[in-house]
Amino acid sequence: MGLQNWRSLVVLIVTYACRCCATEDGCEETTSFLQGLLDDSSLSADRNALQANSGLTGSAARIPCGSYQTNKLFLRGGSAISSCVPADDVSTALILKACPGVSSQQNIITVEGGTSQRISGVVFDQTDLTDPSTRSSCAIFGGSGAIDLEISDNKFINVNTTSQGFSAIQLSGVDSARIHHNYVQQSGGDALNFNGGNYNVHDNTVENVGDGCIAFNNNARGIISSNILRRCNLGIGSGPAGNRNDDVLGDESPFLVTGNFIEDSDYGLNLGWFGYENRIAPINVIISNNVIRRSRSCGISYFASDTGGEGNLMISGNQIINSGHPKTQPPHTEGEGDGIGICIASVTSASITSNMITETKGPSINLSSGHDVNIVNNILTTEENMDNDGLSINGSNDIVVSGNTIRNYAGGIRLSDVKYLLARDNKISGGSSDEGAGGIVGKGLSNYAVERNTVTSESEENCYDVEEEEEGNIFEGNICWQ
Ligand SMILES: *[C@@H]1O[C@H](CO)[C@@H](O)[C@H](O)[C@H]1NC(C)=O
Ligand SMILES: *[C@@H]1O[C@H](CO)[C@@H](O)[C@H](O)[C@H]1NC(C)=O
Ligand SMILES: *[C@@H]1O[C@H](CO)[C@@H](O)[C@H](O)[C@H]1NC(C)=O
Repeated sequence: MGLQNWRSLVVLIVTYACRCCATEDGCEETTSFLQGLLDDSSLSADRNALQANSGLTGSAARIPCGSYQTNKLFLRGGSAISSCVPADDVSTALILKACPGVSSQQNIITVEGGTSQRISGVVFDQTDLTDPSTRSSCAIFGGSGAIDLEISDNKFINVNTTSQGFSAIQLSGVDSARIHHNYVQQSGGDALNFNGGNYNVHDNTVENVGDGCIAFNNNARGIISSNILRRCNLGIGSGPAGNRNDDVLGDESPFLVTGNFIEDSDYGLNLGWFGYENRIAPINVIISNNVIRRSRSCGISYFASDTGGEGNLMISGNQIINSGHPKTQPPHTEGEGDGIGICIASVTSASITSNMITETKGPSINLSSGHDVNIVNNILTTEENMDNDGLSINGSNDIVVSGNTIRNYAGGIRLSDVKYLLARDNKISGGSSDEGAGGIVGKGLSNYAVERNTVTSESEENCYDVEEEEEGNIFEGNICWQ
């Protein structure tokens, strides 16, 4: 090795060591070095310029590849990190860590208000973020007043799992955020946590999370699609959110949950009540085409508050398999769960259609305190579940149950205290031979029409056990096949 090469190697080592100093002084130097590069970057500070050029202007921060320990950095309007500039043959990645031993450090990057910030291609190693006291110990934080923020293709590793104080991303008040293709290895609290504002969260992979793998809280809205979520306490959690008394019916952004794959979690989706009583569930929600398997407690849960009457809920085209049989114990749970497919309480205006629910440990669908709920064209089957009913509804009114196929539950449809009921064209088979079970069982019904259902059962008494006809009620055209 010639003198020249030795010299550059020494320079390289010194520079590298300086960026990664474990002392507080070293951290401060690194922090101002990185902050300077961030402030020099301006990927697209001007949204109008961006639109006019139909491409990005400016350049991302020119951070040499390597591993850095830094105090909190601020991402101002227009600033961007997009991976790193190759600095030597060794480092090809950009790794950001907190400074060790700084007990008050809560974040690695704080996103400030502004336009078009970007963070992509970074490995956030959260080993040294250990203070859970504010419940916002996370790699990326902030966002209030930011517009068109994009966070993509990052990895979040070594997030502390000991308490709910630890997350990967926590954002509030962002307008039009895009969060995609990130990977979160583990976390104690919500991994990706969004509050107030609107967020498009897609194609992320999130695993091993003590709370929500994705959480939309405090009126966050947007689209959650094509994510892979595994071993979460809640695959997707949401609440509190607005209710009907708020001005959210017309002009809110969408709340759409579609095409996600969620497995081995306590709840696949849990919107509304969880952890805190009377937490309000989001309204105007579409939950469609998700594959949710092996949830411990419930595949899709929507628990509105007792008083809120939230709803305008569509649950359609989801495949829910093996509820109640997680492969591993979901984080922060003990023992077995109820293993329900879809559980709903206190909802107004809901449509539950064309879902395929297979092999639940508990009931397939249960509903209480529903108003204006249509449960139509679902297929609910098990090989044998003689401890639970396929569909159970209590304390509800204005209910349509129609076109469902229900197989091998103790009772097909069990109704208690239901008023204004239309149960029609359901097909039920393989119920238990216990007295009064097997087909359709109704107690405390008023104003009902139960018609044109078919039940296949071993004995005739087991087909229907619906209260006597009163004036105005209809019970006709029902078939009992042996
Ligand atoms: C996680 O955080 C707790 C609480 O601050 C701390 O005691 C523990 O050492 C951290 N764990 C790891 C692996 O850093
Ligand atoms: C659904 O069923 C489970 C278990 O059987 C029960 O604990 C829960 O209270 C029921 N929920 C509703 C909404 O009926
Ligand atoms: C109705 O559902 C609620 C909520 O889960 C439950 O507490 C209650 O016991 C159920 N009532 C009946 C009669 O099943």
